[in-house]
Amino acid sequence: MKLSVINGPNLNMLGIREPDVYGKVTYADLVSYIEEVCEREGIEVDIFQSNHEGVLVDKIQSCYHNADAILINPAAYTHTSIAILDALKAVDIPTVEVHLSDIYQREAFRHCSYAGMAALKTFYGEGIVGYEKGICYLKEYLAKKNKRRK
Ligand code: DQA
Repeated sequence: MKLSVINGPNLNMLGIREPDVYGKVTYADLVSYIEEVCEREGIEVDIFQSNHEGVLVDKIQSCYHNADAILINPAAYTHTSIAILDALKAVDIPTVEVHLSDIYQREAFRHCSYAGMAALKTFYGEGIVGYEKGICYLKEYLAKKNKRRK
């Protein structure tokens, strides 16, 4: 299984940005955590972060024929980007959305997720554990799908 983990704007500032909301875990810590989970689960992973909407769209498009699953935290673009939603729909790869914070307990403008409309499931409000849950969900989803094919 090849997994692409895609992180949006300001997630590179984890550990520094709003620690009361996002905690003290740094982006480097998050990357190590994802790598450890994927190694344990026997998943080949590519981890990517960008602050630019078009670069995120390019990254999603590059997953076509190159990734079996996408785990995405589009960060602020979650709530604004129809381009990211369209890219996810275009590649049509099993996708899970993740948010560190509970977007539904925050400002009303965070309650709408465009990316979520193309996702099988969303994990939110569980910090970096949400990434682990998303990875395991995608692994199980693909295993079940492959079983049905046999
Ligand atoms: C976030 C939630 C978004 O509303 C916010 O803009 C982010 C991070 C999260 O992981 O909780 O940058 O996606």
